[in-house]
Amino acid sequence: MPGICTGRVVAVTGAGRGLGRAHALALAAEGAQVVVNDLGVAADGAGASSGPAQHVVDAIRARGGRAVRHTGDITTTEGAASLVATALDTYGRLDALVNNAGFLRDRMLVNLDEDDWDAVVRVHLTGHFLPLRHAAAHWRAEAKAGRTPDARVVNTSSGAGLLGSVGQGNYSAAKAGILGLTLVAAAELARYGVQVNALAPAARTRMTERTFAGTMAAPTDGTFDAMAPENVSPLVVWLCAAASAGVTGRVFEAEAGRITVMEGWHPGPSADKGARWTPAEAGETARELLAGARPPQPVYGAP
Ligand SMILES: NC(=O)c1ccc[n+]([C@@H]2O[C@H](COP(=O)([O-])OP(=O)(O)OC[C@H]3O[C@@H](n4cnc5c(N)ncnc54)[C@H](O)[C@@H]3O)[C@@H](O)[C@H]2O)c1
Repeated sequence: MPGICTGRVVAVTGAGRGLGRAHALALAAEGAQVVVNDLGVAADGAGASSGPAQHVVDAIRARGGRAVRHTGDITTTEGAASLVATALDTYGRLDALVNNAGFLRDRMLVNLDEDDWDAVVRVHLTGHFLPLRHAAAHWRAEAKAGRTPDARVVNTSSGAGLLGSVGQGNYSAAKAGILGLTLVAAAELARYGVQVNALAPAARTRMTERTFAGTMAAPTDGTFDAMAPENVSPLVVWLCAAASAGVTGRVFEAEAGRITVMEGWHPGPSADKGARWTPAEAGETARELLAGARPPQPVYGAP
């Protein structure tokens, strides 16, 4: 039975564990040939191992699918370029990129070291930008050669990027940056046949299973395992498929059995004096406008 990704080649970063692993398996089950990237780092980004990527490749092949391992660091130019090259060298094409790799170093802002800021911004934001940039350069070259692709990028943001999350200033800033990057990429790359969307998932992985042990736990009574990472993957597979034609620059929340379209910033109440305000007037006007505005959604973990 052909799947909705039959004939397509998809690269997934951080596909050795958690959500990326589930995406890679689901993509392969729908016929995609998958480049399984994972540096195999610890939960805080330390170390490296080829084991996680290889295990997922073995699992896909054991189910009759096609996959190849890539164990480069996607926060480096070399790693991002070789990710794209692995797809082209192995399968002769690249149709979709799922940016997913990342790790956490949670601290309250007053205790957040510059190194922990840099590492988390680098793995999420630069780790999205570099594979996107290299994939986009390939697709632009294809378009210029008269072979306009039907390409897809799925970026991974987070509720922390949408609403903010206490103790995750570095992560929230990086994940909010990914939303901005998604909008620009969607606008810039449309002319080359590339659609770019973002996802804010929630699922039980090593990133969440301890902090949110209660909400993430698997049921023991055989009912729907709502927080299994496999529940997020169907939307990712569809966004990678040709079937998602026309959908770009969008952000979805996906968790359990729910898919939500996130609607971004919209102008709320506004006032125009037609001249410069005094600070006192500006303040008075701001308060009046705020009184008529929708209250913001609470920041995750805020007291
Ligand atoms: N689990 C959730 O509920 C949740 C919620 C919101 C967002 N996310 C996002 O989903 C994505 C996947 O997270 P997860 O929960 O599956 O975590 P995870 O730790 O299970 O998997 C992340 C994988 O990324 C890999 N990785 C880290 N740095 C890398 C690098 N430089 N190059 C290549 N691979 C690298 C790790 O080795 C790991 O296997 C992340 O971007 C995360 O921020 C997860």
